[in-house]
Amino acid sequence: MNFDLKTLTHSGALSHKSDLLVVLQKTIASKASPQKSSSTSVLSQYLSTLQKEEDFDAKPGKNLLLLKPEHLAAKRLMVLGVGEGKPAQIRKSVLSAFKSIKSLGYKEITLLLEESVAPLDQALKLSILAASDALYLYTKTKPSAKPSKESKSKVSGTSATDLSVTFALPDTKSAAIKTAFSQALALSEGIELAKEWGNRPANHATPTHLGNVALNLGKHPDIKVNVMGPKEVEKLGMGSFLSVAQGSAEPLRFITLEYRGARAKTAAPTVLVGKGITFDTGGISLKPGAGMDEMKFDMCGAASVLGVFKSLSVLRPADLHVVGLIPTCENMPDGLALKPGDVVTSMSGQTIEILNTDAEGRLILCDALTYAKRFKPKAVIDIATLTGACVIALGHLRSGLFSNNDELAHALEKAGESSLDTCWRMPLDDEYAEALKSNFADVANVGDRSAGSVTAAKFLQRFANDFAWAHLDIAGTAWNSGAAKGSTGRPVGLLMEYLLNHSQNTPKSQASAKASKSASQ
Ligand code: BES
Ligand code: MN
Ligand code: ZN
Repeated sequence: MNFDLKTLTHSGALSHKSDLLVVLQKTIASKASPQKSSSTSVLSQYLSTLQKEEDFDAKPGKNLLLLKPEHLAAKRLMVLGVGEGKPAQIRKSVLSAFKSIKSLGYKEITLLLEESVAPLDQALKLSILAASDALYLYTKTKPSAKPSKESKSKVSGTSATDLSVTFALPDTKSAAIKTAFSQALALSEGIELAKEWGNRPANHATPTHLGNVALNLGKHPDIKVNVMGPKEVEKLGMGSFLSVAQGSAEPLRFITLEYRGARAKTAAPTVLVGKGITFDTGGISLKPGAGMDEMKFDMCGAASVLGVFKSLSVLRPADLHVVGLIPTCENMPDGLALKPGDVVTSMSGQTIEILNTDAEGRLILCDALTYAKRFKPKAVIDIATLTGACVIALGHLRSGLFSNNDELAHALEKAGESSLDTCWRMPLDDEYAEALKSNFADVANVGDRSAGSVTAAKFLQRFANDFAWAHLDIAGTAWNSGAAKGSTGRPVGLLMEYLLNHSQNTPKSQASAKASKSASQ
């Protein structure tokens, strides 16, 4: 798919040729103040008549597809309700519209973002991300999902494989719009990469595969990559990480990525640590069979880190220095597997009594947190599908946020709100750590069932005392279950928003008005 930007007013849109023109329409109630622009244009008169006649209520997500109305150069017109035009409503509407457009076979689509749906830069960014989200198609192990060359559309005469979307605004020259456009394109590529690798089955997304994804990103001039195997990890003394991998035939990988912008020669890095369990059976503390396939998503933290690096490689922000650390392996039961009661020694020197081999995420993350110290980080953020308890606490809307640093926590909360990739701060009172006491080691890897997401975070905190640290539990937000089963690409949006808010400059390479998106395979 291809996204570009065009200067078009409401009236100019009339003569703009495309297969489909999509116009956003707010509800009448939310149009208390008269519309600023183009109220005299034929198109806006047509739209307001449509609404007054009560054929169309403009609720978010509702749309009306019309055959070539008079005076319109486009072959079809879609009126898309966006309610009051709030950011979340725009996202919901554009997402649902593009999901239906996906199957209609149009090739050239123009989305007209009205002035009244403000702020325009945010509306543009959200629309690009929503369109890209809707148009994503998983085909790696399902080639039949690809639209066939034969199924040609009557409107465009071509198949929908190469869709092109033009985002039309009255002004495309302002710095805010240009920044929003280039950020959205970079972000959509990162999110797409995170989704794609989250979705791939565990036999198509092994630790070795994830290492290769990183090595590919390392071809970029601003990114350095190092991938270690079991021998190097053993030398580093990562006894906790090694113990999780010991029951699997797939060799573990420890991936390091480092992005350094042109003006970030001396800046301390932000370190992102992603949980990369490519399949979580639970190990000897075996999980029940029902729904176990979803444990292929247990590497979504790792995928989000790879996604962030993809976005950084496209956007190239000059002031950022970011390190990504990904411990990745399978959690399997076999004759060599870790057993409940075993005691292992982490890289930090702390011994850990394994009371449940299914609490493996914290066992691979703790050694990565210890390793993070050598980068003298500004902040360390780990991202992990860590606990089912977090899903019980927060559902699928907000990720769990835990932090030993208020400033970092507030910055992440803020980034979540503005990117619509939200999180909610959870407590870290010291009393919660009492559940992790062990008679046979410095710490146990699980407590009792109560406050499971908090005790998991308390475990990690023991390895993060030397720096500002935050932990995002994305167990409820990284993927959807049921009919819409699939990875969401979260929290790439939140992380990029956080990182960009902390780089004072504009991106080194502004994307040109026309940029094409490449596939992530
Ligand atoms: N990967 C799971 C967490 C998970 C469970 C994510 C369900 C999404 C949905 C993690 O490794 C795990 O198994 N956690 C255990 C911890 C328990 C043994 C203390 C859990 O949540 O049940
Ligand atoms: Mn587990
Ligand atoms: Zn897990």
